[in-house]
Amino acid sequence: MSIHYSRRRVLLHWLSAVIILWALASGFYVALNPVSASTQQWVGSLNVSLTTLFIPCFVWRAWLFVCEREPSGAALSLDKRLALAVHGLIYLVIGVVLVTGVLMMKSAISVFGLVRFPQPLADPVSIELANTVHTLSCVVLAMLVALHLCAVLWHEFSGRRVVRRMSFAKPAGTIQSAQR
Ligand code: HEM
Ligand code: HEM
Repeated sequence: MSIHYSRRRVLLHWLSAVIILWALASGFYVALNPVSASTQQWVGSLNVSLTTLFIPCFVWRAWLFVCEREPSGAALSLDKRLALAVHGLIYLVIGVVLVTGVLMMKSAISVFGLVRFPQPLADPVSIELANTVHTLSCVVLAMLVALHLCAVLWHEFSGRRVVRRMSFAKPAGTIQSAQR
């Protein structure tokens, strides 16, 4: 375990974690519980604004995930390859959630009332399909996040300080590559 994440990756990881955990928890809460129309309305518009703003951050983060990989000279161990595969899958599923979220919109996309993007689809069948894929990909994402958190806990309890790697603390004697 020699790599250390650059500051921008750490920042983007925690920003994404807060937004995704909030959108998953509040989205499923509202979808599965009897809530008032006003709660449904404010959670809906907050989440659409937040997650739309998150799209460029996600694109940047996915770009860094591809560009700031460990040098592929030495063969990666099996557990590192597995972690990389699960992390790659998380990125893929977040991408599907974001695209289908935009495509399922039945009105203009308003970002905190400041900017408005037109509703992309008009055909109700396509909107319904996007809605179904959005819900299913959110379920898959929630399962991947649960797996991710279990893996982090397991590493920490086995004495591997993975949370420290995903922090702003610099490891002693390590030169951070691609650092800004
Ligand atoms: C990190 C990204 C996102 C996450 C984790 C997320 C999560 C969720 C969840 C858990 C639900 C409830 C389950 C369902 O009914 O499908 C939901 C519903 C919804 N999402 Fe997303 N979403 C994300 C991005 C987006 C984006 C970018 C948009 C559109 C710009 C969007 C629009 C919607 C809409 C319109 C609903 C239905 C709300 C309602 O029926 O009241 N989502 N989302
Ligand atoms: C409180 C919640 C979370 C904690 C404590 C946490 C912790 C961590 C840690 C310690 C790492 C570094 C693992 C390593 O290098 O082996 C990591 C990486 C990662 N985490 Fe999380 N995480 C959390 C939430 C999330 C969420 C919600 C997502 C996305 C849905 C996520 C996606 C990722 C990804 C894709 C990586 C790979 C590194 C990267 O590309 O930035 N994490 N996480």
